[in-house]
Amino acid sequence: MKKLIIAGNWKMNTNAKDTINLINGIKEQINKITLNKNIEIIVCPPFINIEAASNAIENSIIKLGAQNCHYESKGAYTGEISTPMLKYFNCEYCIVGHSERRQYFNEANQFINLKIKALLNDNLKPILCIGETLQERQNKFTFEILKNQLDESLAELKDEQMSNIIIAYEPIWAIGTGVTANAEQIYETHNYLRNYLVQQYPINGKNIIIQYGGSVNEKNAKEIFGIENVNGALVGGASLKVEQFISIINSGNEL
Ligand code: PGA
Repeated sequence: MKKLIIAGNWKMNTNAKDTINLINGIKEQINKITLNKNIEIIVCPPFINIEAASNAIENSIIKLGAQNCHYESKGAYTGEISTPMLKYFNCEYCIVGHSERRQYFNEANQFINLKIKALLNDNLKPILCIGETLQERQNKFTFEILKNQLDESLAELKDEQMSNIIIAYEPIWAIGTGVTANAEQIYETHNYLRNYLVQQYPINGKNIIIQYGGSVNEKNAKEIFGIENVNGALVGGASLKVEQFISIINSGNEL
């Protein structure tokens, strides 16, 4: 049975109370399922709710992730959050390079690379998001774009560090649009990514988790999880509703 990591990216949604309610709801439903050992579940609330989430997930299998971090551990960086601050609340994962951060906050691959190094140095696991725009796909630049994002974001990392990295392939045109990439596009792209990773990292490349993200929901999750080289999902909108998130988890569990 392949390993599946299903992560909820809550984006800028929920307050502390919603966070507790959402996590309690997920916990309650998970307790009713016999969850396979190959499935891991992560929630990534906004920074301000990390403490509430950290308390709420106690005594459960749910793991905690952040949506961003800074690459310095402390200092004069107004408004930023460092990896030691995340670790204090038992955060284990951190999303980096999400397309919304690339698009609205001009985050470049080189900057993302610094964050990945900071996370790994602090024993946190980066979830590196990569993906192409619709125009890039239509012009057949998808693989070139993904290769460049990986080359630059993972620059100078060693093979042994790769067992702690998750790649999330998120076609930008599929995020929040209700349009998912079709099975053939996902198969082809994940296959390309797997080959790239195996070539670059002969020891760990074959086992690196490659999540799919972009309008994953309770209706399409089963098909997506069944595709070769898909090892889970990064779920936005559908992770904010207990029933939908649980239904996605169930789809993985029934595989
Ligand atoms: P979506 O978001 O599931 O709402 O499309 C996914 C993401 O941005 O991680």
